[in-house]
Amino acid sequence: MGISEENITDVVIGTLNSENARLNDVMSCLVRHLHAFIREVEPTDEEWISGIEFLTRVGQKCDTVRQEYILLSDTLGVTALKDCIANRKPEGVTEVAVLGPFYRDGAQLLPLGSNISRGTADGEECLVRGRVMTAAGKPVAGALIDVWQAADNGLYEQQDESQPEMNLRGCFLSDEDGFYSFRTVKPKYYPIPGDGPVGEMLSAVGRHNYRPAHIHFIVSAEGFEPVVTQIYDRQDPYIDSDAVFGVKESLVKDFHRIEDAGLARDFGVSLGAWFLEYDFVLNDAG
Ligand code: BEZ
Ligand code: FE
Repeated sequence: MGISEENITDVVIGTLNSENARLNDVMSCLVRHLHAFIREVEPTDEEWISGIEFLTRVGQKCDTVRQEYILLSDTLGVTALKDCIANRKPEGVTEVAVLGPFYRDGAQLLPLGSNISRGTADGEECLVRGRVMTAAGKPVAGALIDVWQAADNGLYEQQDESQPEMNLRGCFLSDEDGFYSFRTVKPKYYPIPGDGPVGEMLSAVGRHNYRPAHIHFIVSAEGFEPVVTQIYDRQDPYIDSDAVFGVKESLVKDFHRIEDAGLARDFGVSLGAWFLEYDFVLNDAG
């Protein structure tokens, strides 16, 4: 009878009585882990209240465009871990990386080779090219490649009134041999939003809020699992310290200078422009 430090975890779990077995399992696991955390940390009353106040500020920072809870999950590596577990893929298949908060549905379908940088002069010219392939090495024709990235100033278009609507976004269809290509500006590292409680938490624990330069992709095709991913610049100063733990070795690539005049001419870029080549490998839908 009665609650004690020893029995409270079992008592709380014993109250779970949903007809939904998965809900009971998840809640029971949550209670066990929260109680284990409290037993290990032994927070004082002041520490517990300051934790509650932090979570309250996280909620208050959320609105229709800002999702501070996802940012919290991202910066604690929870999103990246969840993505690894929920998207286990066979060796050789393109790995996933966090979606992030800046994806927008409805980017325009553009002809292969189009420039997704709409009229902003800043940034270094870059050609991105590659193929979409099956795990067995066959080309995937008609795959949809949905691309987005931040501008040279480190901001996505919806964060920045100076950029045209849907700047640096576009959709492409791979050709009959699986090839895709587009022009853009070379991505740069940028800070994730630091003006909220997550920013406070990062400074408090001595962390920065930068992501290494990357381009986001969602690649999908009939009969295959869609992949949400990012390709990263190997030379980026933050490549080994991404604030949201999205970098996987297989997604880190070299940007090269185009030194072949024929290639530059064929793709409508200047000699010396940057060039990124990446082949997506899709997993068959189960
Ligand atoms: C992004 O890469 O767009 C991103 C990912 C997670 C948090 C913030 C931004
Ligand atoms: Fe990003």
